Amino acid sequence: PPPSTAPLDLTGRSISDSPSAVLLPPTPASLRRAADALRRGEPVAFPTETVYGLGANALDPEAVRRVFSAKGRPGDNPLIVHVTGLQMLRGLVRSVPPAARALAKRFWPGPLTLVLPRTRRVPDVVTAGLPTVAVRVPDHPVALALIAAAGVPVAAPSANRSGRPSPTRAAHVADDFPGLLVLDGGPAHHGLESTVVALGDPPRVLRLGAIPFEELRATLPGLVVATRARARAESPGMRHRHYAPARPLVLFRRSRVAALREALAADPSALLLCANADAPLFPGTRPVRLGGEPPQIAHGLFDALRTRRRGSVLLAYALPRRGLLRAVMDRLERAATRVV
Ligand code: TXA
Ligand code: MG
Repeated sequence: PPPSTAPLDLTGRSISDSPSAVLLPPTPASLRRAADALRRGEPVAFPTETVYGLGANALDPEAVRRVFSAKGRPGDNPLIVHVTGLQMLRGLVRSVPPAARALAKRFWPGPLTLVLPRTRRVPDVVTAGLPTVAVRVPDHPVALALIAAAGVPVAAPSANRSGRPSPTRAAHVADDFPGLLVLDGGPAHHGLESTVVALGDPPRVLRLGAIPFEELRATLPGLVVATRARARAESPGMRHRHYAPARPLVLFRRSRVAALREALAADPSALLLCANADAPLFPGTRPVRLGGEPPQIAHGLFDALRTRRRGSVLLAYALPRRGLLRAVMDRLERAATRVV
């Protein structure tokens, strides 16, 4: 068949006999089908250890444009290029500085994204015109098998419509993109996106994520967390509204327990979001529990933001800003319509 010309056509019709058969278990046959689709310039959603990605052949500008338009993503927000290992970066980046090499050695495959100087081979649309490209090696057998089978680096943002919470399950992807071909790898392991690091002087975390800052600093002692202003300047994605649930979200600081109790009492249709350990602070409510330990809380966050439970508004109780929870708080703050 001739290549599809409709950039918004994500129905996967050309690759699927039945339009409803789009959540595919990652069998060798469906991996082949997905890899063929990628090579034809069609978008494919796939599981990673962090969240689901919406992939396109990173070397095909037209395919990458389709991902931007499907997501409704602003053109100034660059994508992460996924590869199977350091070797696959050849031709894509101009150099891998020693600090980047040390981090890659320790954390790849894994939820670490490195911002490196790019070559001309990386299309402008991938990097939003920046002189750098963000790269990572996902720690997920399906993602790695897909990239290997396609034989090309895969540019993939999180597989949500722009501004919505990131998808941690195949069903979340299907909710945002009915008809899209999705390789279903089950719930994502971390449930929180990769940590993004730029190797400047000093090296900086541009986006907190699934690898806690403290852990990265053990490998790279000079590492700092970029100020908000700098993260916005260097990482355009940080300027945009993200993770917004379908209804308002009000985030209450940990010192505002009394105010949160009052808000809950005043609006019986409000839904409380909190860590399991904090639930007893709000007797008489049936909270959406994020989880117990930090990894479970991180894992539960985006699913909770997409909760189908009835309620006019989400009221979230802040978490202590330590380790992994610092990244969870970053997401909650950016998801919030208001902080009290
Ligand atoms: O875990 C993840 O990182 C997931 C999975 C699918 O790999 N992907 C993901 O992609 O979260 P996305 O597009 O939702 O977020 C990419 C982030 C944005 O904050 C963007 O600004 C930043 O990476 N980024 C991409 N290229 C960059 C570059 N050249 N310089 C600075 N920041 C960049
Ligand atoms: Mg995203």
